[in-house]
Amino acid sequence: MKKLFIAGNWKSNKTLSEAEDWIGKFNTVWENVTIVVCMPYTLLGVMKSKNLSFLCGAQDVSPFGDGAYTGEVSARQIKECTDWVIIGHSERRKYFSETDDMLQKKVEQAKSVGLKIIYCVSDDITIVPQGVDVVAYEPVWAIGTGKTDTPENANAVIVNIKTKYKIATVIYGGSVTSENVASFVSQPAIDGVLPGGASLEAEKFIQLISYASHD
Ligand code: PGA
Repeated sequence: MKKLFIAGNWKSNKTLSEAEDWIGKFNTVWENVTIVVCMPYTLLGVMKSKNLSFLCGAQDVSPFGDGAYTGEVSARQIKECTDWVIIGHSERRKYFSETDDMLQKKVEQAKSVGLKIIYCVSDDITIVPQGVDVVAYEPVWAIGTGKTDTPENANAVIVNIKTKYKIATVIYGGSVTSENVASFVSQPAIDGVLPGGASLEAEKFIQLISYASHD
């Protein structure tokens, strides 16, 4: 069986106490699944000192290094807390006007400190910078809408991305739930999923991972 990569995206959700509660409930371990929970910056420093059954990730990184960039969090600051970062999520592109040029700079910053990158694209035309570790194919219209791409089309897009960019791990995101996750990961080219809403409750996320991995 292929090793699955499942990245939860909490977005701008959870206070520290809510995150502690989630962690208290998330106590299952899966042999064949890499789990990365991408959470707000405010939680990452605290998570570092905990003994967790999953990896943590950030949801963004500054395109600049350390310095006078008020409000930004640099790659070096993130790397102190975690090894993973999402770059290029469609919500960043839409609400914060992030362009391919800016995302290229973010990738360079992340790589310069050894962060591993989950890079999001909404199709197989969008540029994927060199050096990213995982690509997430997430059609914009499927994010948070309850509508998914078909598993067959997601597989075809992912084959194109893998062929074009020689990336080994490409996952699908957009309204993934425990009900539909198996239909995606059973496709030959799909290596895992990126659930947003379905990662917010520990019990639901556990169920999703179990259904994905057939445990
Ligand atoms: P969703 O979010 O699962 O809630 O659609 C996915 C994402 O934004 O990555």
